[in-house]
Amino acid sequence: MIVAAVLISGTGSNLQAILDAIAAGRLDARVALVVSNRPDAAGLARAARAGVPTRVIEHGGFPSREAFDAAVVEALRAAQVELVVLAGFDRLVSRVLLAAFPQRVLNIHPALLPAFPGLHAQRQAAAYGVKIAGATVHFVDDQVDHGPIIVQGAVAIDPDDGEEAVRRRILEVEHVIYPLAIQLLAEGRVEVVGRHVRVRGARPQPRPPLIHW
Ligand code: GRF
Repeated sequence: MIVAAVLISGTGSNLQAILDAIAAGRLDARVALVVSNRPDAAGLARAARAGVPTRVIEHGGFPSREAFDAAVVEALRAAQVELVVLAGFDRLVSRVLLAAFPQRVLNIHPALLPAFPGLHAQRQAAAYGVKIAGATVHFVDDQVDHGPIIVQGAVAIDPDDGEEAVRRRILEVEHVIYPLAIQLLAEGRVEVVGRHVRVRGARPQPRPPLIHW
């Protein structure tokens, strides 16, 4: 069992997927705290519905990124959190958070990194005309959308898929791979060597390649 906090800024559908996976017995974790930097984040109600404590820490109330992160770290420590899960959290994190939880901060990005880092990844993928898109769960390091990759999931994209369709397809895969990545960590199977993440133990059989036109 791993004790996690989930940091959100908005809808919280990934938070919901994590809570659902726990409820279904697919994820051996406890969400001890949900932190939002925005008081109107819809994900806060999802947490409350699941009986998970919430904290709103508004970034605007702090003089610097580091001061904001220090307040977040204090809340996470008080909740005895082992793993920090960024799920639609719209602030860049500083060394203050990373140093407090070394190799224990995860992020999900809605693209197959290193393609389309940064904002509006789904819009970029739709505009580029890619045939295959996807999502990436990775450790957070001091560069944006950059740390070692734990799990990626891919989806086929059709030429008629606009940004919204791409977003929807990618979200579906996000909701599968985020709980999966956390479960691998909860099982203690994840080893990081430089940029490479090795997962010990049984894995699904190799699948046929995803080919799409
Ligand atoms: C997801 O697309 C995630 O990849 C990105 O922000 C979005 C959050 O969605 N980082 P939700 O709040 O989990 O619904």
